[in-house]
Amino acid sequence: MQLKVSDQIENKVSSGELSGEEASRFSSFVDTCNSEFMTHPVITDNKFCKWFASGAADREIVKHFIIQFSVFSNLFLLAQLQKMINAGSLEGMRASKEILANELGVIFHKPGGKAKEVADKDQEGDPEIVSIEGSVDGGTFRFRAAHFEWLLKMGEVIDIGFNDMGKRRNGTPATLFFCDELSAIYGNDDPNIAEGASFAVENWAAAGFWKQLVAGLEAFKQVEEPNLPLAFFTWHDRIEDQHAGHVMDELEELYFTEDFDEEKFLAGGRKMLDGVQAFWSGLNEHRIAHVHQAG
Ligand SMILES: [Fe+2]
Repeated sequence: MQLKVSDQIENKVSSGELSGEEASRFSSFVDTCNSEFMTHPVITDNKFCKWFASGAADREIVKHFIIQFSVFSNLFLLAQLQKMINAGSLEGMRASKEILANELGVIFHKPGGKAKEVADKDQEGDPEIVSIEGSVDGGTFRFRAAHFEWLLKMGEVIDIGFNDMGKRRNGTPATLFFCDELSAIYGNDDPNIAEGASFAVENWAAAGFWKQLVAGLEAFKQVEEPNLPLAFFTWHDRIEDQHAGHVMDELEELYFTEDFDEEKFLAGGRKMLDGVQAFWSGLNEHRIAHVHQAG
């Protein structure tokens, strides 16, 4: 996967909004991001996800995976709140708040768009039908729409109790390292570091790991657990596809702001990807140890 400068840049040069020198400075920065971020093994060679996609995970591994993912998903809320508090602008604060409020259960609302007809009120908040577009502004809050509650529903089906999910004490050292790095880097009080981390995380997410997880879970569901709800994962996959296009526009906007610091941005991104890698390596080591144990 390679990041590309959008055509928009050329248009901005022809319209005089940017000078040719500015445009080429930006494009060489994008090249640097390619060599610094997109070559990272967590993007190019995520061993756990590759293996998981093949459908080889048994019940034990799926349970361990869901628990660790639930710890990440819940502790991510702390990092997101820090990112919101430390935002460098009102716009940045709102962008973070969108993500946080949606995680907690505010359903995206698309102004002018028709809300999906929900026959049964109890279905409101169901990830099968909640929107991936719009803003939390004007959106409806539903407990059931909290992403963590979607994971709890998965847990229910495969015998993982409420207190076995989402808490610090349920995390392995690798998972907690990742969560702590999220707080420290993604939630950093220097917006340049936080934005670098955010950019790196977005690109990691766009690299296709949701699809690999969905593939593996579908295989498990078919054989082992036909009632396993997968919508937590399919919903995130859908929203990621849509996000991917925005990442470059956001970088471009950020790059030309007064306080932008290339070095800090790159350092934040690199360190964050190492943190993400620790999470997946932990899962990979667990599944290798499990196979040895079982075999
Ligand atoms: Fe989420």
